[in-house]
Amino acid sequence: MNILEIIAKKRDSKELSKEEIEYFVNGYTNGEIADYQAAALIMSIYINGMNDREITDLTIAMAYSGEVLDLSRFGENVVDKHSTGGVGDKVSIILLPLIASMGIPVAKMSGRGLGYTGGTVDKMESIPGYRTNIGIDEFISNVEKVGISMIGQTLNLAPADKKIYALRDTISCVENIPLIASSIMSKKIASGANKIVIDVTVGKGAFMKTKEDAKKLAEQMVRIGDLAGKEVRCILTPMDQPLGYAVGNSLEVVEAINSLKGNIPEDVKKVVLELGANMIQLAGKGNNIEENKAKLLENIKNGKAYQKFVEMVQNQSGDISYLEDTSKFEKSKYNSAIMCEKRGTVKEIDAEEIGKLACFLGAGRVKKEDKIDHIVGILLNKKVGDKVENGDVLAYIYANDEEKLREAEKRIRDIYKIADIPENFEKENNAESVERTKENVPIEESIKTGEWALVTVKKGKFYKIKRFFRRIFG
Ligand code: URA
Repeated sequence: MNILEIIAKKRDSKELSKEEIEYFVNGYTNGEIADYQAAALIMSIYINGMNDREITDLTIAMAYSGEVLDLSRFGENVVDKHSTGGVGDKVSIILLPLIASMGIPVAKMSGRGLGYTGGTVDKMESIPGYRTNIGIDEFISNVEKVGISMIGQTLNLAPADKKIYALRDTISCVENIPLIASSIMSKKIASGANKIVIDVTVGKGAFMKTKEDAKKLAEQMVRIGDLAGKEVRCILTPMDQPLGYAVGNSLEVVEAINSLKGNIPEDVKKVVLELGANMIQLAGKGNNIEENKAKLLENIKNGKAYQKFVEMVQNQSGDISYLEDTSKFEKSKYNSAIMCEKRGTVKEIDAEEIGKLACFLGAGRVKKEDKIDHIVGILLNKKVGDKVENGDVLAYIYANDEEKLREAEKRIRDIYKIADIPENFEKENNAESVERTKENVPIEESIKTGEWALVTVKKGKFYKIKRFFRRIFG
């Protein structure tokens, strides 16, 4: 076999055999195939696509390029969770201890942030002492001991994906459904679970900018799962504005801790409950989604979820006094409250722009080698749909560099889009408490952001669960 022939085949839109795909994946992982040859093949796949069989073969080849965990000791239904990435996404930190508090084992390997999207491992490392870099035996024994372990992907897990993903990043080949689907699924297969719930984020701050593309990605991952013998369920969730209020590592951890203590923002709660209820169902611990949500809420209320988080952090050497008293988290040198300069309604807070701003402050990485600053970031005070008055605080910026703080102050004013409220609005509309634009259209409809249905994708079908994120004012 010859890499030049393989590149030429895909360049000419021909189908690659399983052997050719394996030859490429193994050759590139062990350094026999050069970066420029791999780049040519990846670009050809990006342009000409792959069929389901090719995508599954690529996924399996990447999954088996390194260690594949065997989690069967934890039962027949081991459930994992993954997100396609977003801004302010602290769902894993809340959801996974919550799931573990229901007696469902959680063995979770998470990624680091790259670009404007954050990573769970970076966030968890803002808890002083918490170890994410631990070996496989300790990882498994942690799950046996406390029912949960959350660590980084430091093991030799899908190394082919690591290398190919890094290459894709440098040749503008990240946003591609076959490549994203095979990348995510290879890691999930290597992680050892046989049931997988995937949060497919959609919107300005996500890889998938439209619902149509997100559905295609979801269907693709479900099909790969079918062919690979894994049950995959995808939930499409909105990512036009950041999730919750905090963006930045320790800020998000504090929001996650408060959520586990019962103070959970509404949008975060919806995502946590929807993903969690599906995880419980796949784990075979409850068939009714609504009842599962009630059980999850109960374990937040009775403190069991928070207690499980404390146990996990303590077990991995984290200083739990920071959980008990979150004011102990180190503060940034500078901070600034961004005031609103007019009366109106928040119409848009572009999640990608907020993610980039947090990154600029130091919360994220531009290059893999970059060191991140755990304490900087942005705390939103107003979200889309909120009514604002002149002088209200829109957001707080936390920085360790004064120049960056000043620059961020300017940029955030452009990111927040404020719509006018008609002058006579209150008098006219108090009776029915529905805000209307001048054209007498309810404002909640005139502000499109976030107005869509939550969709669950499983075995090729879409289940509209309910209208989600309807903006109700007042
Ligand atoms: N997340 C991944 O793990 N891989 C991709 O290609 C995109 C998002």
